[in-house]
Amino acid sequence: MTSPIRTERHDDVLVVISDSPPVNALSAAVREGLVAAIAEGSADASITAMVIRCDGKTFFAGADITEFGKPPVGPMLPVVVDAIEASDKPVVAAIHGTALGGGCEVALGCHYRVAVPSAVLGTPEVKLGLLPGAGGTQRLPRIAGVAMALEMCATGNPVPAKKAEAAGLIDRIVGETSLEADAIAFAREIAGKRPLPRASERGAKADPDAVAAFRKANARKFRGFEAPEANIACVVKATETPYAEGVHFEREQFMRLMTGVQSAAQRHLFFAERQAAKINDVPADTQLRPIKRVGVIGAGTMGGGISMNFLSAGIPVTIVEMQQEALDRGVGVVRKNYEATAAKGRMKPEQVAAAMAAFTPTLGLENLADCDLIIEAVYESMDVKKEIFAKLDTICKPGAILASNTSYLDIDEIAASTSRPQDVVGMHFFSPANVMKLLEVVRGAKTAPDVLATVMALAKKIKKVAVVAGVTYGFIGNRMLMPRQVEANKLLMEGATPEQIDKVHVAFGMPMGPFQMADLAGVDIGWHRDPTRIENIRDALAAEGRWGQKKQAGFYDYDEKRNPSPSPRVAEIIEEFRAKSGAGEKREVSDQEIVERTLYPMVNEGALILEEGKAQRASDVDVVWIYGYGWPVYRGGPMFWAEHEVGYDKLVGGLEKHGFEVAKSLKAKAKTPEAVA
Ligand code: 3HC
Repeated sequence: MTSPIRTERHDDVLVVISDSPPVNALSAAVREGLVAAIAEGSADASITAMVIRCDGKTFFAGADITEFGKPPVGPMLPVVVDAIEASDKPVVAAIHGTALGGGCEVALGCHYRVAVPSAVLGTPEVKLGLLPGAGGTQRLPRIAGVAMALEMCATGNPVPAKKAEAAGLIDRIVGETSLEADAIAFAREIAGKRPLPRASERGAKADPDAVAAFRKANARKFRGFEAPEANIACVVKATETPYAEGVHFEREQFMRLMTGVQSAAQRHLFFAERQAAKINDVPADTQLRPIKRVGVIGAGTMGGGISMNFLSAGIPVTIVEMQQEALDRGVGVVRKNYEATAAKGRMKPEQVAAAMAAFTPTLGLENLADCDLIIEAVYESMDVKKEIFAKLDTICKPGAILASNTSYLDIDEIAASTSRPQDVVGMHFFSPANVMKLLEVVRGAKTAPDVLATVMALAKKIKKVAVVAGVTYGFIGNRMLMPRQVEANKLLMEGATPEQIDKVHVAFGMPMGPFQMADLAGVDIGWHRDPTRIENIRDALAAEGRWGQKKQAGFYDYDEKRNPSPSPRVAEIIEEFRAKSGAGEKREVSDQEIVERTLYPMVNEGALILEEGKAQRASDVDVVWIYGYGWPVYRGGPMFWAEHEVGYDKLVGGLEKHGFEVAKSLKAKAKTPEAVA
């Protein structure tokens, strides 16, 4: 096999080049090649300096994640980076694209770094539940200071070249198109300079204030994760001990994280997210339909949020409402959202102006005739949706994609109201649609492959993580929500409180529990609107006008600032309803039972969805719950959690103990469910 690393001589400068698509990950072959190339340059008396650069779209984007968990082959990355730094001849990293993780560490091992203006440097290992394990946590604070090292290592956010230059991470910004030539010229300039600047030989200044401030500022974000604190500990260590000791500490921490379940979960998510984009029976090279203008029907919260996705990606949007007032209000909200983003410095005023200029409000559906994709985002009524789609059928140009943002309804029935069911698809956005990353793409029985492929590709363009779902009530996410809700309500009847159930979910790592979610979304959503018909606790609350946060009363009481507190009135309502419905004695419900009865059934439902072919793969179910509902990333999604944290034996045993009908596929995976139950 030919090595992905080759060398080219430019008189006295040896250029070491990696060609390992797609992202020049530091595989065993790349690592071996780098060590050999440095040895070649060191041994050749005619060479005075070396440059390391990459072919393709990026500098090394990190260690090869596919090697993780497998027996090590070839030189380990820390050895490679040390070999580069130990060279007696200066080595210059010439960076373009994304120098990430191990790639950034290779650059830190080099004596100098030059980069094109569009390059970014980052140590995103924390996002994989890890830390930079090739000296990065020790070299970064020595070169760029503690504050910058904390930011890069513990949040994983990359730094653009200019900022990196200001922090001393980059020695020179070079031409966007002349990276190699400029790097060689730079190498000649510094070839004779001694001593060589080796990061490991420098000291790192302690900055306890910066560390304390950083911990405080990120406490919420880091809740439940192990890796951020390990990154912080390593960076702090760099300020307290000599390099060799620090690196030893870094290795210990790295191995601890690498063998833990959190990192396995986060690595699973990395690949799950990429896998989700693939449609099993649709070739990756399917010809896509061009999408130059999008139409959105409904200027409510959902329609406005959906529109923003396209406007932000530079795709013009025509938005339709029935009443001028509602249209004006919807457009106003979008403008306000953009202006708020600009006020926070995350958008330039001219970008706001450009987005709003591409936003065309109208009262007439017929104005959607020139749109390539039309997304209906009106309220959940099959009749209304069918009427709209029938009208769209007469208005829209041939080949236009007709999408519904329904969160539950049957896409096939909607499609049947048109003469072109092959062009109909579901695009289920999650609220707030301009923020939440998930998009469920619902494939109808007749949806054409190129329609599906186009929508999946478009999702990436608008920075969504898209998952293909089949037609089933609630698709993947909301269908799994249902058994959770049913059980949570039953638990109230048996003696648990809303606070206890929510607390268990929050402690598990969810952003909120089922009752906090109900209060946020609206207790009255889906309510039959008859205050005399009280069939469950939710009906009882709705009948009293306790509709959630918007009424400052729901399952909780709220003050003016929407701070919740347990509601004595809700406790009474639950008691009254219990008495009326003849529920037995109240009992103590344990936190473990809440987990078993509200979370295990979700996994069961996920398994049923898979058995029915309504999701393509288990990892897609995980992606839905992580990006749509805030399932804790470090637990990898419900299906990963079931397999790797709970175990199928315990899961099936628990489900059977509580009387659930267990999915066949789960039973097959459990060895001895009876024994555990
Ligand atoms: N190892 C193995 N494969 C990788 C990889 C890596 N580090 N990074 C990306 N890939 C693969 C992807 O799985 C994908 O494969 P596929 O086409 O078969 O699905 C392909 O490369 C292209 O990736 P993307 O679709 O993500 O391409 P983009 O252009 O959108 O993004 C990127 C490129 C910004 C480099 C992005 O892939 C990324 O963020 N990669 C991960 C970077 C990272 O986390 N590096 C740290 C690794 S851990 C480490 O270095 C430990 C060390 O400290 C010891």
